[in-house]
Amino acid sequence: MIKLSKNNEKKEYETLRKEIIGRYSRKKTLEEYRNYAKQGLWKEEKKLFNKYLEKGSLILDLACGSGREAFPLVRMGHKVIGIDNAPPMIRLAKELSKKLKIKVDFKIGDATDLKFKDNKFDAVIILYNSWNFISGENNRLKCLEGGYRVLKPGGYFIFSSHIRRFFSKEMVGWIKQLIKMYFLRYFGYPVREVEWGDVYYKNKEKVECLYIHKPSLSKIKKQLKMANFNIMEIIIGIERYNKKKNMRKIKKNYGFFVCKKPDNLT
Ligand SMILES: C[S@@+](CC[C@H](N)C(=O)[O-])C[C@H]1O[C@@H](n2cnc3c(N)ncnc32)[C@H](O)[C@@H]1O
Repeated sequence: MIKLSKNNEKKEYETLRKEIIGRYSRKKTLEEYRNYAKQGLWKEEKKLFNKYLEKGSLILDLACGSGREAFPLVRMGHKVIGIDNAPPMIRLAKELSKKLKIKVDFKIGDATDLKFKDNKFDAVIILYNSWNFISGENNRLKCLEGGYRVLKPGGYFIFSSHIRRFFSKEMVGWIKQLIKMYFLRYFGYPVREVEWGDVYYKNKEKVECLYIHKPSLSKIKKQLKMANFNIMEIIIGIERYNKKKNMRKIKKNYGFFVCKKPDNLT
């Protein structure tokens, strides 16, 4: 494959980081997230939290958004610190925390650069595919390693992620990407994708660019191993309502992961 130079790669990641912060700072997005905060936990999240978190846990919520998962977790009897790198999102979360009278310590922070002491938290979470917004394999690994560092031994890292499946409804998109990355770039066509699995979406008005990285299941498992986690449980699939067909469907290209920092670290 024609690879981007390390400098260009770094530049693209920095551009993307700013674009993502910009996207989550927009008025329209913030209004959407005001509503998401009311929706609360997804069925799969609730199931895993009930199974793995002991009452009174101290939880670090990475890329917390407007507090969709933080508020219910406090109601369940836990303490939550939430960080997000979009300052307007943190302002919104603080406003909602006051309104709802639910105490969460919301702060601006980056999920790839955690400013917390080692062994502090009972659980670290990063949900609603927020981990997929981190560009670059090494940056996603930094997030996992950081989570591992700040967890107490025996603590849980719980996250959700898109899962790339080539032979799926998305196959045409992957074939297009293959052509772009392996052929068109060679002929000088401007291609933004750095890694296989990077996806850029356009919105309905075909203007906004939304980046997301869709890793394969084996890559996720490999990265969790590299960060020294033990994988406890993986739920493949997410139940979603299909408006057109008026029925609930399981989307298989999504997963929930529960990983543990080993208890005995000698
Ligand atoms: C899809 S939203 C999810 C928000 C929330 N977790 C939820 O489930 O409603 C993604 C969030 O990730 C944040 N984000 C993206 N990259 C981040 C990073 N590197 N560090 C911290 N927050 C990040 C965005 O600002 C945005 O609020």
